[in-house]
Amino acid sequence: MTWSESEQEKILSLVRKHGSRPTQLLQLLRDVQAECHCVPAEAIEIVAFELKVSRTTVQGVVEFYGLLSLEQLGRFHILLSDSITDQMMGSRQLMEYLSAKLGVEPGQTRADGRVSLGFTSCTGLCDQGPAGLVNGHWLSRLNGERIDGIVALVERDVSLENWPEEFFNVDDNIQLPGLLLENPIKIGAALRQAVRNGFDEVFEEITRSGLRGRGGAGFETAWKWRYCAEGPEDANGLPFAGLTERYVVCNADEGEPGTFKDRILLNSHAHQVFEGMTVCAGVVGAKQGFLYLRGEYLRLRPQLEAVLAERRAKNLLGSHILGRQGFDFDIEIHMGAGAYVCGEESALIESLEGKRGVPRIRPPYPVVSGYQGKPTVVNNVETFFAVAAIALYGGGWFATHGTDKSKGSKIISISGDCERPGIYEYDFGVSIAEILLECGAENTQGVQVGGASGAIISGREYHRKLAYEDLASGGSFMIFDKSRDIMDVVRNFTHFFAHESCGFCTPCRVGTTLLKNEVDKICDGHSGALDLVGMTSLARFIKNASHCGLGQSAANPVLGTLSHFPDAYKARLKDVSFEPGFDLDESLEIARRMSMRDDAMAHLEQEAI
Ligand SMILES: Cc1cc2nc3c(=O)[nH]c(=O)nc-3n(C[C@H](O)[C@H](O)[C@H](O)COP(=O)(O)O)c2cc1C
Ligand code: SF4
Repeated sequence: MTWSESEQEKILSLVRKHGSRPTQLLQLLRDVQAECHCVPAEAIEIVAFELKVSRTTVQGVVEFYGLLSLEQLGRFHILLSDSITDQMMGSRQLMEYLSAKLGVEPGQTRADGRVSLGFTSCTGLCDQGPAGLVNGHWLSRLNGERIDGIVALVERDVSLENWPEEFFNVDDNIQLPGLLLENPIKIGAALRQAVRNGFDEVFEEITRSGLRGRGGAGFETAWKWRYCAEGPEDANGLPFAGLTERYVVCNADEGEPGTFKDRILLNSHAHQVFEGMTVCAGVVGAKQGFLYLRGEYLRLRPQLEAVLAERRAKNLLGSHILGRQGFDFDIEIHMGAGAYVCGEESALIESLEGKRGVPRIRPPYPVVSGYQGKPTVVNNVETFFAVAAIALYGGGWFATHGTDKSKGSKIISISGDCERPGIYEYDFGVSIAEILLECGAENTQGVQVGGASGAIISGREYHRKLAYEDLASGGSFMIFDKSRDIMDVVRNFTHFFAHESCGFCTPCRVGTTLLKNEVDKICDGHSGALDLVGMTSLARFIKNASHCGLGQSAANPVLGTLSHFPDAYKARLKDVSFEPGFDLDESLEIARRMSMRDDAMAHLEQEAI
């Protein structure tokens, strides 16, 4: 150990701040990173010793999360979003400009340790990009002028608190409010009614509303809550005696590229989201809740903590809520750290427990065995937002909107090629054509509904409806006009999945990388018809053999575009049956140098077959 006592004390005080609890490991490591601009080996040793976990466990957690680093980063760590809509707005060119001005390459730290650069998958600011992060804080609406400003501040070593506020400004950008956004509830109104009428009645209203989860999969919310409230059964079909601990988790990971509606709900309607969580706690009998907030939404944390404090002061959280004996519930915020897979509910629970976010084998589902092995409800931010409104206005009010199978409304985040990107709320059943018209999209070539893992549709299908029974979406709606090359979209998404695969199962870990390589080969003009056949069967294999939803949807961009945009592929194909995707001769260069040969016989001729 080479560290001074004061350096060690810094880490020890962070360990104490987090109560020396292994479940706090990820939160603690985030703090270490903020303090040291990396997680140094010395800190890993101290943390492992104090938390009584192995060194490799701590190191494994650091390596898992994109926002943590074993390598020293700059005092200003700047990441630009590499999502497809940011690329369309020129993020790659801005990175070149920034990199040249600062004299450091993406992925590197400048020799003086002041600044490091990199890309990140998505920042949740697709409506006001090109966007980025500096030391985890949003940077919005980047352009050449703003980059000049950032460079000047970095070179003058101005601390972030003194940077101009407008660099960090992020608007809600609500373009079209609907059922829920037009009828926000007053603070505490839903809870007061629930306490007055009883939680059985609230549960009836949630059931009557037909509410389905807004995170994407669309499970019936009441069904989920009932399972959690009942808990696992013993051999006689009765609830296990003495099993009282239950948890409520709000999934605010919002990592799906193109989705940013939860950002708005947390920014301007956090009371209502927390109220929905508290209503849920009353129904299922939970005492503890968690808001799992994506690492990129760090800027929202102080105001969310302030809302929680206000709710405690108003007796809307804490002990005997609103005077009801035994109704005790509180909410803790846990931050993610840049791992898309942690939006998957079982991976999220692992992450909440301080571990690597590797999806669990299911069943058992979280409603039976979730946080710390106890029954846990995991719902999306928008689901809880709707719950609070339903608890107040009634299930009937909600169910009169939408379609038979998709009740109520959906809040969607629109980005890409349209005049008015932002937040729109529609009753379910609205057609894609209506949405395109409303947001000012013209010459639309394709729409990606549901983010990278969703479905891409072309002009023939704009009559289709936004609904669970037709086009389901967690909230992402990305528009590509006819000037775009659809292969750029496919390439971006396949790179995204290869990067975000957690590596637990082989079909996804290896398959997503092979798929990415295949798409690169096509885009670079080295593929023939045979490659397409191979790529299609690889894509199907990944879809069918992967362990969790990430792998099962990772091939969607390829399969979807192959069926809707076959011409985009055909235009890139060469008239060969096979050509290697790499230069065989060049790859033998090391061997030639080692054997000190460069004669003609030591070279291969690469020929297409
Ligand atoms: C790779 C992956 C990422 C996900 N990301 C999110 C997310 O960011 N937010 C979310 O609410 N659900 C996400 N989900 C879905 C969750 O697993 C879960 O179904 C959802 O949180 C349940 O809430 P709901 O019933 O209210 O929709 C994701 C699923 C997968 C497979
Ligand atoms: S499918 Fe991918 S993300 Fe999911 S467990 Fe397997 S490797 Fe991890």
